[in-house]
Amino acid sequence: MSVLFYEKLWMWASGVLIVAFLATIAVGVAGSALQPPSHVETIDPTKVWTDPRFAARGVTEDRRGATVIAVGMMFAFVPNEIRVPAGRPVTFRLTSADVTHGFMIVGTNGNAMVVPGYVSQFTTVFREPGEYLIVCNEYCGLGHHLMSAKLIVEARP
Ligand code: CUA
Repeated sequence: MSVLFYEKLWMWASGVLIVAFLATIAVGVAGSALQPPSHVETIDPTKVWTDPRFAARGVTEDRRGATVIAVGMMFAFVPNEIRVPAGRPVTFRLTSADVTHGFMIVGTNGNAMVVPGYVSQFTTVFREPGEYLIVCNEYCGLGHHLMSAKLIVEARP
């Protein structure tokens, strides 16, 4: 079978592109600790406020790190201010009480979709103490641009 020169060229070009796409995923996972969503946990979106997993919203800390329980709703995050320790793993557990929201901690790799009916969970470490802005990055309605919260990363002795 003979393959035309241009055909070969395009086949190689497509092959190189596929390898490049896979490489971006590998670099993202290994280099920036980005994780694809894999934690499937469901919740009744109409009972978020009384569900025992989300009844105590806020931060709990132990020696190893912290866990943040937060809810996204039109057009706020509850709680609105989150304090976590620097240099220790922080696990975020998020859900929505109405529509799909985003939870993006600007300037960090903390970013998740907050989907009604599901619990989104990710763990990250904040090396730099300071104040970070949390924004909703999924269009959720007229007040979308107002939907934000504050993350305060504190240096602990
Ligand atoms: Cu919530 Cu956009």
